[in-house]
Amino acid sequence: MEKVRINKFLANLGIDSRRAIDQMIEQGRITVNGKMAESGIKVDSNDEIFIDGKSIKKDKSEKVYFMLNKPQKVLSAVKDDRGRKLVVDLIKTDERIFPIGRLDYDTEGLIILTNDGEIYNRVIHPRGEVYKTYYVEVIGTVSLSTLNKLKKGVLLDDKMTLPARGKIISSTPQFTTLNFSIKEGRNRQVRRMFESVGHKVTFLKRIAIGDLVLDEKLKTGSYRPLRKKEVNYLNSL
Ligand code: URA
Repeated sequence: MEKVRINKFLANLGIDSRRAIDQMIEQGRITVNGKMAESGIKVDSNDEIFIDGKSIKKDKSEKVYFMLNKPQKVLSAVKDDRGRKLVVDLIKTDERIFPIGRLDYDTEGLIILTNDGEIYNRVIHPRGEVYKTYYVEVIGTVSLSTLNKLKKGVLLDDKMTLPARGKIISSTPQFTTLNFSIKEGRNRQVRRMFESVGHKVTFLKRIAIGDLVLDEKLKTGSYRPLRKKEVNYLNSL
């Protein structure tokens, strides 16, 4: 493995942002092979790195967590009979990871992958209410009364949808863009809700799960480890 700058190396492990790591270095909290780390030093996994006196080496049972900005035409699954590209194919790890929940094949955006089954349950069956927020583009002008109807609930498969949140971002006679948040995860729910009021969804991207927001620096198809505080947040759900 090629040596990389220590701030990048530790950020890739999910310790914290590069800037926060630079601050730790300035504060003298990091050592490399027994010596105080200097900013810009290059390291690899053979180096003994300690933060506040604690080794960063992982033990075998360690859990991993990634935030992926899922592209379209990628399946939210760990295998597929039809050989389609999978979310797990986009992440380099030796761990057996799986996605928490699903995004449609044609939906982009925030998806969490992990080997931690407990956190999976927390996010899928939270104790409280967790709204998943989507950026939505639809055909036509969505009126405020239509938006209110969607927010109150519409009938899908003989069952009303739970209260939703929504805000129009821009609107022309041709199309409307919105942020729309739902707390359920029924099949193709956002697409079907808008279709039920006569607006076809032409683009759908998940931008947040509760307070966990898709990192805007992540290009479509790229990923990063979750930060400790983000994992703590998921654990608190
Ligand atoms: N709603 C949809 O229609 N599709 C998704 O992928 C997620 C929510």
